[in-house]
Amino acid sequence: MADLTDPSERYQDSYLEALQEFQAEGRYQEVSLEEVAAHFGDFVQRLHEIKPGRVPHSYFWLIDGNDYIGRLILRHEVNEHLLQMGGHIGYDIRPSRRRQGYGKLILKYGLDRAKILGLERVLLTCDEDNLGSRRIIESHAGMLENIIEVEQWPAKVCRYWIHL
Ligand SMILES: CC(C)(COP(=O)(O)OP(=O)(O)OC[C@H]1O[C@@H](n2cnc3c(N)ncnc32)[C@H](O)[C@@H]1OP(=O)(O)O)[C@@H](O)C(=O)NCCC(=O)NCCS
Repeated sequence: MADLTDPSERYQDSYLEALQEFQAEGRYQEVSLEEVAAHFGDFVQRLHEIKPGRVPHSYFWLIDGNDYIGRLILRHEVNEHLLQMGGHIGYDIRPSRRRQGYGKLILKYGLDRAKILGLERVLLTCDEDNLGSRRIIESHAGMLENIIEVEQWPAKVCRYWIHL
């Protein structure tokens, strides 16, 4: 059974395979696979760092057995920018493991963590044409507040609230 866990060096091989899958579909182009592989421990540490001007967050990986499946970021609060786009929770599932229910599962776990944190409601946003993510959010009773245009973002953005 897949579970949410702290990022760990234990999953290095599987994480690097997943990163290659993401990069093959055009994501994470800013990340150097070689750099991450050479300094994996530092990379894992940095996931928890809160950069200046950023809100506090918790970072989790979804692991099944020893396999890296996806990641979830839970922001403890939202600033003006995140209120428009980004919200409290972001996630992705590696390409080879999509359409197997992991997206719904990772959000379920994320909502559990948000509750533990004491949040009463969370904002989730996704592009209007991201049908998979919209189904995931709506399956967790996401209430669509609006669909907005965001400066310098090519797609319209759906903003959903989930009451915990
Ligand atoms: C969006 C994403 C998380 C979906 O993950 P997933 O593991 O495939 O999701 P699930 O298997 O739980 O699917 C949930 C539902 O969405 C549907 N779905 C998934 N991908 C879909 C797609 N590309 N088009 C249409 N429907 C899709 C599934 O069939 C399922 O439908 P159901 O409710 O009838 O069962 C994954 O595609 C992804 O990581 N994409 C890139 C990053 C991203 O978009 N993250 C979200 C940002 S808001």
